[in-house]
Amino acid sequence: MRIAIIGTGYVGLVSGACFADFGHEVTCVDKDEGKIAALHRGQIPIYEPGLDALIATNAKAGRLNFTTDPTTPVAEADAVFIAVGTPSRRGDGHADLSYVYAAAREIANALSGFTVVATKSTVPVGTGDEVERIIRETNSRADVVVASNPEFLREGAAIRDFKFPDRIVVGTSDERGRKVMSDIYRPLSLNQAPLMFTTRRTAEMIKYAANAFLATKITFINEIADLSEKVGANVQEVARGIGLDNRIGTKFLHAGPGFGGSCFPKDTRALMKTALDHDVHLRIVEAVLAANENRKRAMARKVSLALGGELRGKTIGVLGLTFKPDTDDMREAPSIPLITGLLDMGAKVRAYDPAGMEQARSELPSLEFCADAYACAKGADALVIVTEWVQFRALDLDRLKETMAQPIVVDLRNVYRPEDMLAAGFVYESVGRSSTVKN
Ligand SMILES: NC(=O)c1ccc[n+]([C@@H]2O[C@H](COP(=O)([O-])OP(=O)(O)OC[C@H]3O[C@@H](n4cnc5c(N)ncnc54)[C@H](O)[C@@H]3O)[C@@H](O)[C@H]2O)c1
Repeated sequence: MRIAIIGTGYVGLVSGACFADFGHEVTCVDKDEGKIAALHRGQIPIYEPGLDALIATNAKAGRLNFTTDPTTPVAEADAVFIAVGTPSRRGDGHADLSYVYAAAREIANALSGFTVVATKSTVPVGTGDEVERIIRETNSRADVVVASNPEFLREGAAIRDFKFPDRIVVGTSDERGRKVMSDIYRPLSLNQAPLMFTTRRTAEMIKYAANAFLATKITFINEIADLSEKVGANVQEVARGIGLDNRIGTKFLHAGPGFGGSCFPKDTRALMKTALDHDVHLRIVEAVLAANENRKRAMARKVSLALGGELRGKTIGVLGLTFKPDTDDMREAPSIPLITGLLDMGAKVRAYDPAGMEQARSELPSLEFCADAYACAKGADALVIVTEWVQFRALDLDRLKETMAQPIVVDLRNVYRPEDMLAAGFVYESVGRSSTVKN
């Protein structure tokens, strides 16, 4: 199959590389000339494990191309995927659909022959109707089926998720559309991935409902963590104890500093806004959002308390900036409100992240960046673990203690065991686990 992908970001680039790896002929289009030029030079604009090799192999085989001009790839395509951003709209929290609609217009002008236009971007229910309206209005002769094909990959494990998905959701009731999408995803039937056909609106809803549910799970365990801390329970054991019940499941039950990233915050906000537009109150989703926002900022107070409530003149080392490990993505990362909170309280903050420092520079200009974890800890009054990169999971505790001004560690990802940290001579705070062992 011939495929054009509009938008070569985290989703577009991974999808394009994986589709090419299935044997399809793929062209990734992006209006960002710098990004396309870098890809032509063999440079990958994002950090995603395994992506560089996958792109190199498929580009070399001639199955994966990059361009800024959608005209020819769209004209030749059996299917065009829209994978542009849908950030929160400034001011009201609705999904900003201007990039999707602009892409629809560009696609409409270039269409030739029967083509499926599938939206991979996360878009509110009804957006597919508007994309179809724009295409038909712009090009009345277009022979097109507009489908929804939400993407569920996780950054950091994106290639595996794309190649071994739990399910593929395709929203279209059109038989020709279903046939093209089945052909595109056929290689995945070998991996037993269920291909689920629904209506377009149902597919759009599935994506938001999935993200809202996962965000709820995280927020739920975070609140249980707060209570566990107060009553002397261990939230990790609570999570395991409830997660082993198959009806609940163990995933997304890790207590931490609150969810961030490019999807959950903006998608829960957008879902809530869509619901309000339809006079429906999603009270659970509203509570999840409010609890999560408060939590991110509260993490700075947690650090302050570990230092006796006064941060002025103190130096804090922060390990991990990205919203999760194995990505360079800083969008809505919990590290941002944490660090701004620490700075507001008068602390000096320095940080180290294995992949996110370049992106963090624009978000946090007054931050000092370090070469590694030990440089970050040097002379610090406290060290805060914010992202559970593998590099931070087996730090040399003696070396750390020697280099720090005070041996205080605030572990917002529960990477270490309280008893080990206490034995190593640290004052240790984590999430949902008492720092002193209770019966
Ligand atoms: N990042 C994730 O993990 C993830 C997972 C599932 C779904 N999604 C959804 O997928 C969509 C894309 O997310 P992302 O993280 O890949 O975004 P991104 O910001 O990394 O990439 C979007 C790209 O689209 C390009 N673009 C915008 N308008 C264009 C146009 N008219 N023509 C060509 N290129 C254009 C931008 O230059 C940018 O490179 C969003 O709706 C997001 O919610 C993201």
